[in-house]
Amino acid sequence: MHFQWYPGHMTKARRMMQENIKLIDLIIELVDARIPLSSRNPDIDDLGKGKARLILLNKADLAEDRLNDAWIEYFKSKGYSAVKVNSKKGGGIKSIQSVIQEACREKTERDRKRGILNRPVRAMVVGIPNVGKSTFINALAGKACAKTGNKPGVTKGKQWIRLNKSVELLDTPGILWPKFEDQEVGRKLAFIGSIKDEILQTEELAAELVKFMAKFYPGVLEEKYDIPEPADAYKCLSDIAESRHCLVRGNEFDTEKAASILLDDFRGGRLGRITLERPQE
Ligand code: G4P
Repeated sequence: MHFQWYPGHMTKARRMMQENIKLIDLIIELVDARIPLSSRNPDIDDLGKGKARLILLNKADLAEDRLNDAWIEYFKSKGYSAVKVNSKKGGGIKSIQSVIQEACREKTERDRKRGILNRPVRAMVVGIPNVGKSTFINALAGKACAKTGNKPGVTKGKQWIRLNKSVELLDTPGILWPKFEDQEVGRKLAFIGSIKDEILQTEELAAELVKFMAKFYPGVLEEKYDIPEPADAYKCLSDIAESRHCLVRGNEFDTEKAASILLDDFRGGRLGRITLERPQE
């Protein structure tokens, strides 16, 4: 699923978010473990003022585990609860309910002091498109969970999924608009496939990925595609084209095709677990 973001989309998404945030205690924010900062929208900090916050490093299976842990520490140091998950395979999902309780402990305590007992925590999942919100909700709620439906006093049309007696989840996630004003952020979002390829130069993007790989994961491309250490990024694409027999007009190397192969392999985790962003960069 790809989105193009225009000011109109953003205004609508922001309005929906503002309305839904009023109803909840906890914001569960999904980020992509490969780019934990670039896949966030910092506006959520403003929108979610006063709410308990939990950051999930999703797609943790595609990112380097040592760096997943470093990012968890980073977010914790900024005052968020944070854990890594693989929503697709269910890794880390089992413990989420207790993580949710823990993230809301202050609020539960406050309630108790005011004599409010056993009021379930209400949570909403938010994140930029394609970060895995639907996959996560399905993994967490599964089929066993009954929807609670509308309740008197609750805004009409909202569906809540009861996870257990202490947690309810809004069944529709909040879509945050990706922020690609900064070229570097835009490029990273493009690497993971959050921005449509057609509007980007595939070869230029792949060449940037080659440069990144040479710096942080030397030797990986050489081994994967059985190519020599490349002199430069475009030579690397041409070597991949040669190695994969991608030709145009019979004898020219199809570097555009090689670029697509490289980007697809990266996005599908076939280059190994790769993290594009490190804390404190
Ligand atoms: P969204 O609601 O936030 O827009 O995202 P969605 O759940 O639709 O997930 C987007 C893509 O990310 C899906 O792949 C989904 O399978 C994949 N995904 C979600 N969580 C994880 C995870 O933890 N690890 C990995 N490796 N992938 C994850 P897709 O290509 O669109 O579909 P499919 O290939 O799964 O059929």
